[in-house]
Amino acid sequence: MDTIPTLHHVNLKTTRLREMIDWYDTVVGLKPQHVDPVGAWLTNDAANHRLALLAFPGISDDVDKDSHSGLHHMAFEFSSLDELLGTFARLRTLGITPSACLDHGVTISMYYADPDRNVVELQVDNFHDWAKSSEYMRTSSEFAADPIGVVFDPDRAYDAFQTGKTHEELHRTMMAGRLMPDAPPPLVGLPPRVSLGPLQKQGDAKMDVVAVAEKFCAGWTSPDAEAFSMLFAPEACYTDIAFGIARRGRDQIMEHHRIWRTALPEFVMLNEHTYESGSTVIVKTVCYGSFSGGDLGGGKLKATFKSFRARAISVLELNEQSQILACTEYYDKSTMPIGDETPFDQLPWPHKDLAEALSTKTVTAS
Ligand SMILES: [Fe+2]
Repeated sequence: MDTIPTLHHVNLKTTRLREMIDWYDTVVGLKPQHVDPVGAWLTNDAANHRLALLAFPGISDDVDKDSHSGLHHMAFEFSSLDELLGTFARLRTLGITPSACLDHGVTISMYYADPDRNVVELQVDNFHDWAKSSEYMRTSSEFAADPIGVVFDPDRAYDAFQTGKTHEELHRTMMAGRLMPDAPPPLVGLPPRVSLGPLQKQGDAKMDVVAVAEKFCAGWTSPDAEAFSMLFAPEACYTDIAFGIARRGRDQIMEHHRIWRTALPEFVMLNEHTYESGSTVIVKTVCYGSFSGGDLGGGKLKATFKSFRARAISVLELNEQSQILACTEYYDKSTMPIGDETPFDQLPWPHKDLAEALSTKTVTAS
């Protein structure tokens, strides 16, 4: 191709033109160049327009937008973290808050929903240099392994930045999972996660490993212990390394699920990333909960009523029917919030086992 054009503008259809014009002015300083009853043309730089809005009669809202294909989001870039967090704070005073925030490794990003529930990303480049961040995206094995990154709590990030942390320090803290929110953020602009149900198989085709991972996480998030146990083969074993627990067979696994969910009634497990290697699936998860429902381990671990968020890795060995034959679970103690005492603090952390589990697999990003 001899001549490469420059991306110039995005055009959205809307049923609430005025509200959209005001929102884009407030959030990213897009000013209308021209407003017509059936549309508006807005810009926040030297281009004649960067965003157009069409409000023709007959346009209706897409109530199932999150599940439909099409544009997911558009992004606006700030030149510094100071500017991004400053905008976050300004919008917060106006009651406009992000739906989800992520450090993608390559950018720190905050996702907002506009009045039509289109997603708008506000970001800052972690390299401050498009050439370097492009190189990172193309060549980094870290990015290839996890292009989504780590969620963070914007209020915590803002407060940490106010204490004098640099962009680099805050980026490292976010990537280590130390600024995660107390509750998992929604999957902004995406359909709800896969719900737990019987294993779906078509003929002899193996179930998609991501579906296995999603069902495993949905199973832990659901109070339905029996449905969770049915994800496993009848002879399956479940090993929780940190707690020193080994369960065999569906009945014991069901009991394990019951005990855990009784101790942590609001337990949530989210699938952060799935890897597969042959019949092995490795699920990297983020877990949320609080020990509010009862003691664990025969009273060894007391109900502290403290909330926690932690990363975990579950290594799942599947059989031919895509049932889980063996599950080995590891918690990443380094993601525990510093100063928050939880029962996890009393646990030995098997770094060596985890390193071995991961190094013995040929891990490929899904
Ligand atoms: Fe983006």
